[in-house]
Amino acid sequence: MKKMNICVVGCGYVGLVTGTCLAEIGHQVICIDNDPRKLQLLRKGKMPIYEPGLEPLLLKNSKAKRLSFAAHIADGMKNAEAVFIAVGTPPQADGSADLTFIETVAREIAQNLTRYTVVAEKSTVPVETGEQVERTINRYNKKRIPFDMVSNPEFLREGTAVEDFLHPDRIVIGVKTKRAELVMKELYGPLNAKILVTDVKSAELIKHASNSYLSTKISFINAVGRICELVGADVEKVAEGMGLDPRIGASFLRAGLGFGGFCFPKDLEAFHYISKKVGYDFDLLRAVKDINEQQRVHFVKKIEEALWIIKGKTIALFGLAFKPHTDDVRFAPAIDVIELLQAQGAKIKAYDPVATEKAASLIKNVHLCKSATEAAAGADCIALVTEWPEFKKLDWKRIKTKMQHPIIVDGRNYLNPAEMRTLGFEYRGMGR
Ligand code: UDX
Repeated sequence: MKKMNICVVGCGYVGLVTGTCLAEIGHQVICIDNDPRKLQLLRKGKMPIYEPGLEPLLLKNSKAKRLSFAAHIADGMKNAEAVFIAVGTPPQADGSADLTFIETVAREIAQNLTRYTVVAEKSTVPVETGEQVERTINRYNKKRIPFDMVSNPEFLREGTAVEDFLHPDRIVIGVKTKRAELVMKELYGPLNAKILVTDVKSAELIKHASNSYLSTKISFINAVGRICELVGADVEKVAEGMGLDPRIGASFLRAGLGFGGFCFPKDLEAFHYISKKVGYDFDLLRAVKDINEQQRVHFVKKIEEALWIIKGKTIALFGLAFKPHTDDVRFAPAIDVIELLQAQGAKIKAYDPVATEKAASLIKNVHLCKSATEAAAGADCIALVTEWPEFKKLDWKRIKTKMQHPIIVDGRNYLNPAEMRTLGFEYRGMGR
């Protein structure tokens, strides 16, 4: 294997995982970030995010001097054969992605080219961004140093990001030249993964289409769940039956509170925006978004059905993160659920194994607890929002004795209804 010099711009989820894992497979990597506090943390081997398995890998590769951190793109690009753009593309009010950071980085890359370099876009960007980045680099590349623009979308999931990176289902590279294709293939060679080579725009669209398709699957099963409730069927069984058909597949058919996080909601919105912009209104995506939003309202209605009057009641929220094994609360169902319950006058106690700190800045007047049992104490109802494994192992008998009323509304169909009912809980799930 050839050891390559790589620069990764942006130390967010994607950048940090990419940089660390590329060092792990033997490359020499410099990660760039313009936030001095983040750099200080990373240089001490500390993590700005919670991502299982990332910290030991970061420490190991920093110690082996394969991984380092710097503030300026110029420092990372001195000998770089490939530079990855992994900066944020935050959503704007109209649903489009803000590409200001990408443009700034493209300019800086252009000004710091010293040798043929592959510039790989890893951030999730609208189709045609590759073209714009290439144009920008050409404009500021005064010395006319050769480079190639590549789209290399990232499919990693928070919570399993390291595993996803090191054992990917596929690596997509959108290229214009054979030279760039060979560099990318060499770079990812140690992973022995399936590599799909496409043109740049198709690669960009694969990311949008994949995330939107998975979101559609979730909303589809949630809509089926609503019908199940109306006719008295069980969505878990329906999903199981559907999933046994290999053409459908069992994954992403878990009904419940729907999807959150920084990828699906944002990418769905952006893809819908792009589709309209290029001349086709991909209206299905609007329905996917609407169904997802309705699930949160529907969940609160279930709490209301259980309690009749929400005003003055204490609700214990189990979970704040948008999914287990992450501390990410961006676009998390918990945030909307809290707002909806508070609007009806509920008092909220909440517990999450890791996301409490990050949630604190997004929510108001919530009593943040150190344990699930503490949150449940004195509550009229438990609202299970995130399926953290520890919730399965709780001493539910003891929890029951601490509650005002033993009611559980399970937004993820995570607990066993029969077992909870045997323990004396009034149990309500989603879609059953
Ligand atoms: C997702 C994509 O999976 C990943 O490929 C992409 O790179 C980034 O976006 P992530 O947001 O980390 O990853 O989480 P994921 O595990 O895909 O879950 C997304 C959301 O969907 C979560 O809120 C989860 O609770 C929800 N979900 C998932 C369901 O409601 N039902 C399901 O069946 C699956």
